[in-house]
Amino acid sequence: MSTFLLLECSPHGERSLGGQVAREAIEQFRFGRPEVRLATRNVTTDGLRALSAAYAQGLFESWTHTSDAFPDSEQLIAELEQSAYVLISTPMHNFAVPSALKVWVDHVVRDGRTFKRGNGGKIGLLKDRPALVLVRSSTPCFGEKTSQPDFLTPYLRHVFSVMGIHSTEFVYLAGEEPTVGDIAIARAKLTASLEFSSRVFRSVRNAERTGR
Ligand SMILES: Cc1cc2nc3c(=O)[nH]c(=O)nc-3n(C[C@H](O)[C@H](O)[C@H](O)COP(=O)(O)O)c2cc1C
Repeated sequence: MSTFLLLECSPHGERSLGGQVAREAIEQFRFGRPEVRLATRNVTTDGLRALSAAYAQGLFESWTHTSDAFPDSEQLIAELEQSAYVLISTPMHNFAVPSALKVWVDHVVRDGRTFKRGNGGKIGLLKDRPALVLVRSSTPCFGEKTSQPDFLTPYLRHVFSVMGIHSTEFVYLAGEEPTVGDIAIARAKLTASLEFSSRVFRSVRNAERTGR
């Protein structure tokens, strides 16, 4: 059994177009793969708490992942660790990630737990795995028709990489009401990317197992 973690970040909840497209792509990917279980974390409606004073203090005092100061962080990191695949469905808010997703990032990117410090910089402690991000925005933030800066993509790429997840792919779906064609293209890109990266990861794992 392996787990597919879907992180939903839109304040529109069930009505989120990004969420709908992400769920459809995952269902398509899981078709014929009954061993893949879906786990959903909605960072907006699950009411993640902002980092507490105990959290900030705990980081500097103990540098240990066993501290009671990090229960929410431990829960969210465990969900990430247990996932074989990750898909984040997020809107762009003010050219960057929505605040609820930023809170999730602050809980999971944790010194001594998901990364450590080495002489050459930070070293990720999580295993690499396929990670996809579906970005919804009202106007394009990628490609020839870009009309705004995009701080979301480089930010998420970097924070995942800090934790050891280097295979993050981005798919964009722009427009308040995208056309049926645009929606179908985004869904197909997600599914194709999932199929491709799962094959790459399977062959890397096989090579590790057989030493070739
Ligand atoms: C507070 C807020 C800030 C937003 N900022 C941006 C932005 O910077 N760029 C953009 O293209 N759209 C922006 N939008 C529009 C959302 O990205 C858009 O409504 C969202 O993509 C809808 O996706 P969903 O249907 O999956 O929830 C913003 C929306 C809100 C509520």
